[in-house]
Amino acid sequence: MNNLESIKVDHFFNPSSKDFIHNPIPTLEKLSEEFPIARFDAWQAWLISGHENILNCLLDRRLSTDFNLWEFAPDKKPVEEMDAFEKLMNNNLFFLDRKNHLRLRKLALPAFSPRIMERMKERFQILVKERFDEIGTPDSFNFAKEIAEIFPSQAIASLVGIPRDKFPIFDSLAYGVVRGINPMLTPDERKEAIRGVPEGLKLLNQLIDEKRAQPGDDFLSTLILAEDEGSKLSNMEMCALVGAVLGAGSDTAVDLHSYLIKNLLNHPEELKALKADESLVQGAISETLRYESSGKTGLARYASEDLEINGYQIKKGQMVQLISTTTGMDPKVYENPRKFDIKRDHDKSLSFGQGPHYCIGVTLVRSQTEVMLKELFKRFPNLSLGDEIKYNYDHHNARRMEVMMVNTNL
Ligand code: HEM
Repeated sequence: MNNLESIKVDHFFNPSSKDFIHNPIPTLEKLSEEFPIARFDAWQAWLISGHENILNCLLDRRLSTDFNLWEFAPDKKPVEEMDAFEKLMNNNLFFLDRKNHLRLRKLALPAFSPRIMERMKERFQILVKERFDEIGTPDSFNFAKEIAEIFPSQAIASLVGIPRDKFPIFDSLAYGVVRGINPMLTPDERKEAIRGVPEGLKLLNQLIDEKRAQPGDDFLSTLILAEDEGSKLSNMEMCALVGAVLGAGSDTAVDLHSYLIKNLLNHPEELKALKADESLVQGAISETLRYESSGKTGLARYASEDLEINGYQIKKGQMVQLISTTTGMDPKVYENPRKFDIKRDHDKSLSFGQGPHYCIGVTLVRSQTEVMLKELFKRFPNLSLGDEIKYNYDHHNARRMEVMMVNTNL
């Protein structure tokens, strides 16, 4: 068996450091090239890097997303003792065992059908226009705060059918779901983070009950009507699905919006090509996710049995973090990976995962980002990057920009 000491990476890998947040590339390149498998004591986890290694792990059934398999997972409370947030997590698509995951995913998929996504796009176009009207025609504005942070949770609220005047309640639920999951929070911080969860759940339950009484052909009604071998979704499972969608789809899309615009404005030739041929927009989205993925952590997996990866023995219960940000910089898959090129082939992309947990919200995030981008350049055709970019160094899993000024040059 190989020597564990030689693959420890705590001396150079620190994804919370300012250096990493400003520019993670040198660290990620070192990981990929020298440590395709590494031991990171700070997380008590294995790290896996590189396209092929990560793909193999995503498809390996012995590596589960079920958090309860983790050697350090706290004992599971009886359901009666769980608070609203814990119940939500207990039914979350990400953390279920294989059988329950499969059942829930099968029931959820029809609610993401092309027909529902198309209708959702139309609704989203209205929201985007409204938001840009509110921004008006300033000389400059903070794109990160005024656009990127707002649209993703609005897109999910629209998908779920939340009435416009109830968006703030839904925002508090989103905040709770996204922040409450951070294991580093103190009990008081966690309590504060999940403050809005009960009211958000009350709103969701009311909506579900209304739809049960009078189903239509929207997202919630489709979930209500979905049936698999006589099994249907309960209210709690539907709420947990909305929670999973918020957890997976709001924060990730915030970063996609910001980094897409940052990279296009930093690469004028690519922006020019995009303006000349709008069909390149999806390529620009894929390229942003490849070129500057915002994640600080990885995709977590837990060994359901002993297994071997690259000559190292992974014990049952150990955590394996797939450093998915390294997949896009693998020269075996992408020629000249440090070139931002919106015309590249992304057939092998793992940005949305692979296998049983493949992202359920791809169409939604792609269409909301496209709508935002087109409206942005329609309103501000001469947009340029301003002087200021500030990161939120405390964000638990993303290299989040909280300030990204843009000049409108109107
Ligand atoms: C840029 C935006 C996004 C990125 C990069 C992204 C990426 C991913 C990845 C890599 C996975 C697989 C996770 C794993 O294997 O552990 C995943 C799963 C998932 N994503 Fe996304 N996602 C995005 C947006 C969204 C949106 C907008 C939604 C919902 C509307 C969404 C809902 C989900 C759900 C529910 C899962 C879990 C699926 C399952 O476990 O079966 N995602 N996403």
